[in-house]
Formats: sequence, C-alpha cells, structure tokens
Amino acid sequence: MSAVIIDGKEIARKKREEAALRASSLKQKGVSPCLAVVLAGEDPASVSYVGAKEKALGEAGMESRDIRLPAYTSEERLLSLVAELNADRLVHGILVQLPLPAQIREKAVISAIDPRKDVDGFHPVQAGRLFLGEPGFIPCTPQGVLELLRETAVPVSGAHVVIVGRSNLVGKPLAALLLRRELNATVTVCHTGSGDLARYTTRADILVAAAGKPGLITGGMIKKGAVVIDVGVNRVNDTSAKRGYRLKGDVDFESAAQKASYLTPVPGGVGPMTIAMLLHNVLKAAESCAGADETGGRRD
Ligand code: GUN
Repeated sequence: MSAVIIDGKEIARKKREEAALRASSLKQKGVSPCLAVVLAGEDPASVSYVGAKEKALGEAGMESRDIRLPAYTSEERLLSLVAELNADRLVHGILVQLPLPAQIREKAVISAIDPRKDVDGFHPVQAGRLFLGEPGFIPCTPQGVLELLRETAVPVSGAHVVIVGRSNLVGKPLAALLLRRELNATVTVCHTGSGDLARYTTRADILVAAAGKPGLITGGMIKKGAVVIDVGVNRVNDTSAKRGYRLKGDVDFESAAQKASYLTPVPGGVGPMTIAMLLHNVLKAAESCAGADETGGRRD
C-alpha cells in the first residue's frame, strides 16, 4: 500500500485566500488587521519562520509590524516593548517568536502579552480556556492539524488519536482540542518517558508525531491504514543540499508511506497550515476589536 500524500500547501492556500477575503471586508469597515512580530536574536530557523509569516500577512492584505531586537536584549526591554504593543490600538495581535535568548524567561514574556492580542494562544489564560472548552485563541499548529484532517475528510469522532510529544506548543493543546465533545476523539499522549513507543503508536487510527526527533516514527510503528500527521520540522545536515541542510520530519517518510492510508510530507504538510491559521487568529483579534469599537470599547 502507498499512502495518499496530504497536500498541506494547497489546503493552506485555500485558507489564506479565505483570510484575504476576511481582511478585505474588515478594511472596508476601516480596520486594517495588524500583527506585531517580535524577533530577538538571529536564530536561522526563527528568521526564516518570521519571514514566512510576514510574507503571508502581506499577501493576504494584512499588516505586520516587524520588530527585530539584538540577541543580548534584556527581559526588561522586551517586557516594556510588549507593554507598548498591548497599549497600541493599531496592533491587533502580538507574536513573540520562540525560542527566546537564554537570559529572557519565555514564561514572563508570554504572560505579559494581553490575552486579547495573544494570537499564538500561548498565554496561560488562553491555555486555560482551551482546556475548559471555552472560546479563545487556539494555537496555530494544533489548529492546522485539525484543519488538515477536516479538509481530508478523516473522521475524528470515535477515533483513537495517539500524539507523540507533550509540548505546550503542540502536544498538549492538540490533546485538549481533540477531547472536546464536538471532536469526540480518544487521545493518548506519549513522550520521551513512555518507553516502548510502538506499544502505543501501533494502536493509533490517527498518529501525530510532534516530538522534534527526525525519523523517530518508522513504518513498523504504524497500524496499517492509519492516518499519519508529521508535525516535526528538523534541520538535518546534507552536504548535497544548497544550504547544507534539509528539512526532515519526525516520521520516516518512505517506510511510513507503505503503512499509512494518508500521510503529510515535510516540508509541505503541517508547516504551511500553521501560517494560514495564524492569519485567521490575527483576523479574529482584529474582528473582535472592530466589534468592540461598535459597542463602546468592550472586547470581551
Ligand atoms: N516558534 C516555533 N513555533 C512558534 C509559534 O507558533 N509561535 C511562536 N511565537 N514561536 C514559535
């Protein structure tokens, strides 16, 4: 058997088109959706992600305010910048690219962002809302994974979803989303302490690899006919590649394709969806701001 490859790029293109339409209708109402993108330091992967996010915003007719800070920036400086952006009425969303330089506590910075502008959905208030099943910003990558499943018509209700990885960015929020009554999945979360991963992964109807370990999931760990979603984006050295590296997922693509019914590639799977979902979160922030203006400044 050879898996059907899920085209994340194409699905993301549709989502970005939808975002462009929503942006244009907001602009007609006098609101120009704007995301402040803050990058501290020059981590090559982060520089590339931030560039891709800003390009996508521009293509959807949305604004980005690009703020680059040196790697030696103090936590105090970053916190005061976040406070300025919180107060800026022209900025609807704030994204501080992670990871941050070692001298800055990520927790302190994330908690300082106004939850109403936290389009990453990383603020403790947003994370709490997600776990309680209340409305709020859903982190972009888990949202992208769900959209891929929805667009591919993969049934989630009643399915056993096994997530490999327990990060705050992907594993935990994705588990919380899948447990919502309307999605109705049964969820197993495995991690580095789980021991024999195959014991769990071979039981998955839908397997999500989000461990950050290149090639961790091989065909032998996949149930025949399972749907496999690869969230991993790992840079591995490759002297034959122009840049000296290539991107590899957490899933060993060739062996997985022999077992899975559907499989996402890396690149071109989940990655483009993350960016498309970010556009939708920025629009949600801008729309709720516009609604608040019509109702006398309230935004909740
Ligand atoms: N670093 C890796 N992924 C993300 C993301 O989705 N948002 C932010 N802010 N930083 C990241």
